[in-house]
Amino acid sequence: MNHPVRIEPLEPQHAPAVAKIHSVSQSGTFLTSLGEEFLTLLYRRISRSACGNSYVALSGEDVVGFIVGALSTKQLFKDVALKAPLHFGWLVFKRGLSRPTLLAQAFKTLAYPSQGDENLPDAELLALAVDTPWRNQKIGAQLVTQLRQSMHTAGIGAMVVTVDGDNAGALRFYQRHGFKPAAVSHMYGRPMQHLVLTFQE
Ligand SMILES: CC(C)(COP(=O)(O)OP(=O)(O)OC[C@H]1O[C@@H](n2cnc3c(N)ncnc32)[C@H](O)[C@@H]1OP(=O)(O)O)[C@@H](O)C(=O)NCCC(=O)NCCS
Repeated sequence: MNHPVRIEPLEPQHAPAVAKIHSVSQSGTFLTSLGEEFLTLLYRRISRSACGNSYVALSGEDVVGFIVGALSTKQLFKDVALKAPLHFGWLVFKRGLSRPTLLAQAFKTLAYPSQGDENLPDAELLALAVDTPWRNQKIGAQLVTQLRQSMHTAGIGAMVVTVDGDNAGALRFYQRHGFKPAAVSHMYGRPMQHLVLTFQE
């Protein structure tokens, strides 16, 4: 059943709700372990970057899902992290005091954009989540369609998404939307599947 949600560009005021959905839908991951304050700052910064290409699904004024794309992940990381390094650093450090392994993971994450496989596209679908009660109503599908259209309009030829190799539901979801398995790597000790969507001319 299609639910009457509308898709709009991610704006700074959506960041706290997006951070909450991220935390719930990606529990146990590194970024979630940095806390909602960190995620809120991250999504607020992403919403302001010219390299970002991100949308929310809204029911009334409530955010029920979001998708984050980057025209270039390297450029987006620079835009986001380098404009507020002290604020980000302080939030990671505060968390790292109680869980020192987080600091090591933070350095690995900082290196993520520069470790890219040069055969993979620069454009990337970085995050997608729909709030649990709203799942399986094609909201994820609408968000992906919006991102594909705007990437295509921006002249992008292909985009990559990286998915935890154990996330069978997400792998099925992306393949249904035309993404094809392209490479496998490891991050945070877990197998990661990279899938690529090539836009038709
Ligand atoms: C993946 C996700 C965004 C799909 O949103 P949605 O609005 O439910 O998607 P749609 O209704 O368009 O499509 C449903 C498909 O999503 C996938 N899916 C359903 N539940 C899922 C879950 N808990 N985790 C991952 N994928 C799931 C399945 O492929 C499902 O189709 P199927 O039941 O025929 O296999 C949503 O399930 C979600 O937020 N999952 C948790 C976060 C996540 O895994 N994000 C992707 C990795 S970046």
